[in-house]
Amino acid sequence: MNKIVIMGAGRVGETTALILAKQEICREIMLIDVREDAPQGVALDIIQTSPFFNFDTRVGGSNDAADLADADLVVITAGIPRKPGMSRSDVLETNVAIIDGIVDDILQYAPNAMILVVSNPVDVLTWRVWKRTGWPRERVFGQAGVLDASRMATFIAMETGFSSRDITTLVLGGHGDSMVPVPRFCTINGIPISHFISAERIQDIIQRTREGGAEILALRKNSSAYDAPGASVAAMVDAISHNRKRLLPCVAILQGEYGQADIAMGVPCVLDERGLSEVLELDLNAEESAAFQRSAAAVGQDIGKLIDPLG
Ligand code: 2OP
Repeated sequence: MNKIVIMGAGRVGETTALILAKQEICREIMLIDVREDAPQGVALDIIQTSPFFNFDTRVGGSNDAADLADADLVVITAGIPRKPGMSRSDVLETNVAIIDGIVDDILQYAPNAMILVVSNPVDVLTWRVWKRTGWPRERVFGQAGVLDASRMATFIAMETGFSSRDITTLVLGGHGDSMVPVPRFCTINGIPISHFISAERIQDIIQRTREGGAEILALRKNSSAYDAPGASVAAMVDAISHNRKRLLPCVAILQGEYGQADIAMGVPCVLDERGLSEVLELDLNAEESAAFQRSAAAVGQDIGKLIDPLG
C-alpha cells in the first residue's frame, strides 16, 4: 500500500498510526482531524520516534479533507467516545453525523479506497458507511472481533498461565453487550479450552470479554481503550496490505449468511489484498445460533433508530 489515511487523530487513531508507521506497512500515513493543529502535532510526535524504531514511513497531519486524495485505505476512528456508564449505542446519534460527513469527503477525494470503520457503535456505523457509499462489502468493513478475541485470549492466558500466542479465540456478533464469544472454537494450540478451564470459569471469561471495553473505560475513567484497539486495526491492515489471506473476525455486511441480510455484524472473514474477500458461514449449534440471532436483533434495533438511513 502506498497511502493510508486515518480519520480522527484521537488516541485510537494515534496508536494505530504509530504501529503502522513502525511496521512500514505503507509509504505514507496521513492523520486528518477537524481539531486545528491536533493531527499535525500527533504526526510530529510519531515521526520523532523514527530514529528509535528505524522507520521511513512518512507521517503527516492535516485539517483538510482534500488530503484524503490517493488513499488506498481509510481508517475511520473519528467520533465521540462513550463515558463511563454509557453504552456504545448512546453515542450513535452524534457519531452518525460525524461519519456521514467523512463518507462524503471520501466519496469526493478517495473514491477508490477501502474503508475500515473503528468508531462506535461500529456495527451500525459500518452498515451506514456501506449504505451511504453504495460500495461492495469487500471495500467497507469494521474492526471489533479482532479486539474482542484478543481480550478473550488474554483472559484465557491469565486463567491458565499459558502464552497468549498459543491461544485462539472466536468472538462473533455485535460489538456490544450482546456479543457472542464462542468457547467451542477456542483452543490452546488446538486443544479445546474446556480441557483446561471449568465450565463456570469459561462463563466468567465470556462475561468479562463482553464487558472488556467497559472495564477499561471504568478504570481509565477519562478514556476508552486504545492500545489493544490500535493493535487490532493494525493486524487487519497488515493482513490486507500483505495479501495474507488471514481468517479474522470482522464487522461485515451480511448478504444472507447466518440468515441475515442488510446488516453489519461480527463474523469470520478472509482479509486479503481485495479487502474483505469472503464471509465464512460456520455451522453454529442451537445455543450459539440463538445468541447470534439475539445479537443481530440488537444491532438491527440500533440501525432502526437511524431516522433517515442514508442521511
Ligand atoms: C472497546 O471495546 C472502545 O469499543 C472499544 O474498547
